[in-house]
Amino acid sequence: MDLQTAELRINDLRSLLNQYGYEYYVLDMPTVPDAEYDRLMKELLELETTFPELITSDSPSVRVGGKILDVFEKVEHRTPMLSLGNAFNEQDLKDFDRRVRQAVGDNVSYVCELKIDGLAVSLRYENGLFIQGATRGDGTIGEDITANLKTIKSIPLRLRENATLEVRGEAYMPKKSFEALNKAKEERGEELAANPRNAAAGSLRQLDPKIAASRNLDVFLYGIGGGTINAASHSEGLDYLDQLGFKTNKERRKCPTINEVIEYVNSWGDKRPHLPYEIDGIVIKVDSYEHQSKLGTTAKSPRWAIAYKFPAEEVVTTLLDIELSVGRTGVVTPTAILIPVKVAGTTVQRASLHNEDLIREKDIKIGDQVVVKKAGDIIPEVVNVLAEQRTGNERDFQMPTHCPECESELVRLEGEVALRCINPKCPAQIREGLIHFVSRDAMNIEGLGEKVISQLFAEKLISDVADIYKLTHDQLIALERMGEKSVTNLLKAIEASKGNSLEKLLFGLGIRHVGAKAAKTLAQSFDTMEKLAHAKKDDLLAINEIGDKMADSIVAFFDQEEAEELLRELASVGVNMEYKGAKPVSAEESNSIFAGKTVVLTGKLEQLSRNEAKEKIEALGGNVSGSVSKKTHLVIAGEDAGSKLAKAEELGIEVWDEEKLLIELNK
Ligand code: IVH
Repeated sequence: MDLQTAELRINDLRSLLNQYGYEYYVLDMPTVPDAEYDRLMKELLELETTFPELITSDSPSVRVGGKILDVFEKVEHRTPMLSLGNAFNEQDLKDFDRRVRQAVGDNVSYVCELKIDGLAVSLRYENGLFIQGATRGDGTIGEDITANLKTIKSIPLRLRENATLEVRGEAYMPKKSFEALNKAKEERGEELAANPRNAAAGSLRQLDPKIAASRNLDVFLYGIGGGTINAASHSEGLDYLDQLGFKTNKERRKCPTINEVIEYVNSWGDKRPHLPYEIDGIVIKVDSYEHQSKLGTTAKSPRWAIAYKFPAEEVVTTLLDIELSVGRTGVVTPTAILIPVKVAGTTVQRASLHNEDLIREKDIKIGDQVVVKKAGDIIPEVVNVLAEQRTGNERDFQMPTHCPECESELVRLEGEVALRCINPKCPAQIREGLIHFVSRDAMNIEGLGEKVISQLFAEKLISDVADIYKLTHDQLIALERMGEKSVTNLLKAIEASKGNSLEKLLFGLGIRHVGAKAAKTLAQSFDTMEKLAHAKKDDLLAINEIGDKMADSIVAFFDQEEAEELLRELASVGVNMEYKGAKPVSAEESNSIFAGKTVVLTGKLEQLSRNEAKEKIEALGGNVSGSVSKKTHLVIAGEDAGSKLAKAEELGIEVWDEEKLLIELNK
């Protein structure tokens, strides 16, 4: 084929693919079978391979994902991408309505939209051509994810008119794509994505656009971020976006009064689970652009819009029993055993009841019908009991007076609600201590989880942490569900853990009040186990973050003969007793923005674990603390941040979102 014929055919193919794609992905009304679309796409890709000079940036072939990037470039938003204030109940909505009317008068009207649970994106078009797509970032500066966004088939590469404008919307992962992704991850033995929002954000942050292309993401556009458009109101603006070929959400509704808004909001409570994508609320916007500009914005959010957030999903199930478990420190915790139910996406069958007081307060009986939710959408919790549904067969729960494992008498320490077993030889405490020792923040021995430790302990193959290093191939292979390969890997992991830096061992020893952070401080300050073991209380108190209670506990720990013996044994099997990490950078030494700052992390972070964020901030001379006070310099608020964020705002402390954190960490 010659160039000219190829060009003609390529043009035909592109316009067919654009039309079919629009019908399928935007209008949701396919007119040709999938196979036909695929066949045309294949032909186009082949022609473009033969005639690369005919490739254009708006060719539908870019949907399959182009070349891998090195980094995401930064993009400064021409108009900031704001966020929304929240409403949690009818009263909040009525208050919003009152504020709006005060500012613009009574002839106000609203548009309600679904609040799609994905991530905000901004798309720039020049003369109808898609030229740049970006994440929200900190609202002012985001990242250029054009190549990834081009793989979303409902994002037009060319508009139906030659408009120049910036549109804003939400990219998301449909429930079906999310299920498929997790199924594939499961088959590959990878860690599952927690929810569609994280999965969508993760997909769009991949430097290889082929990954985004494989994830079947989608988008809804919900607003205009710049450019002149022919519309006098938000609802007309959305109609105009439809006309340009964008995908908008069709569930939007004009509501002339706040009562209609409330009705709309309430109507979604039941319908929400049936949607093919996740929503986390309803967005209410003042319709008229004139009213919007009269209302204006605060630094963070427009006064003309508000997000109604749905309450956490609650379900009813039966509380079958209350089990007791003895923790590493001897605390006896009651746990509700439930008939398994699905709550907010996962099956729940246990929920901690924390302590006896809470069981009394909530009047929980065995056999009760209980309401269950996931606190912060993660941790299962019994909200309340449906006392009116009792049959008379329910039983009161009695907290035992003696340890369920070792039968020694339980005590309630002064000022504590918990009951404790204080027998240091209690097998439950020892077993839990062993589980703690191998856990991720401690010695991090992969393959040695709760189940294996429990088996080894029950078979008396290990009775203290030093025994872990004496395990043999023959002992391990005899365990249930242990193959040759697992044994080899496990022995390797045990061996590797001997080289861990001191803080991991220190934390793993489970000294009362010494958490992972204190362990690090101690390791950095004393360098070796030997020096720490000989430290006097005053030496410990001289360290900034070590208080009285912790100092006492450390001295008491090293005073025990058993501790001395254990450390000797650990050293003799080759466990490292020295600090290997970097020395802390003094605030003056570090010229990072974090130097000398006290930072608080709150809410869910998507790209980093809390621990990773903490380590990085500390490496740059920052200090990460758990609570917000006047001394806090900076709060990093992830998704769904709660009281800490509120407190920071009250105190006027600087607040960053995760993207801003990432930008600063990577500077
Ligand atoms: S309007 C100027 N409409 O919710 C405010 N936001 O904080 C622009 N979201 O991350 C937001 N669905 O991406 C608006 N129909 C919708 C939305 C929506 C989801 C997201 C938005 C932002 C958050 C609001």
